[in-house]
Amino acid sequence: MQLAAASGQPSPSRLGTRVERLPLARYTTVGVGGEAEIWFVETLETLAEAVEQPYRILGGGSNLVIDDSGVPERVIRLSGPLAKADLTPDPELSDPASGLIVTGWVGGGTPLPGLLRKLQALGWSNLEGTVGIPGQVGGSVWMNAGTRFGEMFDGLHTIEIVTPQGVRQVTPDDLNWGYRNSDIPRGHIISRVRLKLQQSSPEAVRERMEQADAARKGQPKMKTPGCAFKNPGGVSAGLLIDRAGLKGEQIGQARIAPEHGNFIVNLGGATAADVLGLLRLVKGRLAPELSGPLELEYEIWPEEAAADLR
Ligand code: EPU
Repeated sequence: MQLAAASGQPSPSRLGTRVERLPLARYTTVGVGGEAEIWFVETLETLAEAVEQPYRILGGGSNLVIDDSGVPERVIRLSGPLAKADLTPDPELSDPASGLIVTGWVGGGTPLPGLLRKLQALGWSNLEGTVGIPGQVGGSVWMNAGTRFGEMFDGLHTIEIVTPQGVRQVTPDDLNWGYRNSDIPRGHIISRVRLKLQQSSPEAVRERMEQADAARKGQPKMKTPGCAFKNPGGVSAGLLIDRAGLKGEQIGQARIAPEHGNFIVNLGGATAADVLGLLRLVKGRLAPELSGPLELEYEIWPEEAAADLR
């Protein structure tokens, strides 16, 4: 496959999608990353056009570290209707007698925090355990984001997936999903989902959200991609990093957070190289002591920038 030009003018969209060359740092929660051509895609039709050339899909930019040189592929960002939620219960799929609610389509670009606020106000349960995750719906589904109070697959009915081969719809039962893993291949775009929720009350949902939120109280407030490593064998990676005495370690303007060992924070002008340096430091220190693998929770763009961390 031919790679898009790494610099110069953005390639135009036939179907009128807005295309701009921009620094990706502003689209990531850690605030690092070089430039790329961003396609702000609003419909399934224009999404089909966007995937005709090599692409990457950008969600909420959490759990993502982009190299300082950016990426050569076009970067797709779901916008407009693909970033909005239709929460109207589907009359054919919902069952008021048992309190089952299956919603209309929720765009993959919908920010998760705002969606959870709406679900709380409606008293609709199943996803409140994911409170505090800063991402968008698509990315959160792709990695089955969650906390120990719940995860995205607790509240999914249908997942619509776009690839260069076309659009298909699957249910969670079609996938071999698990801890922080949806089984959906990298590069497959979660364009929309239908949520499967349970009627509860706004008070009960709020109470469970507050419990999940309380578990995050001690987490750092600075710019961060989120937790760096998956918990190996169910043991907190943060606890292991803490025990290894690595909290507070700093490279350039990136630091292992003193509050929680599994967070790397940007003190101001951090680069991707600083963040990757800290990941290597942790992996080099912890991995030899573990019986199983120490896996990154982050995505790294391009993958070659951190092949040694996989
Ligand atoms: N701990 C330490 N030192 C540390 C970090 C943790 O002693 O530096 C101890 C804590 O005091 C606690 C235990 O380790 O007793 C577990 O810590 P925590 O409750 O923070 O849970 P975790 O397993 O480290 C997971 C998720 C977080 C999520 C929290 C709270 C993963 C990899 N991490 O962390 O998710 O916020 O539970 O629900 O699953 C993320 O996914 O990006 C993320 C940060």
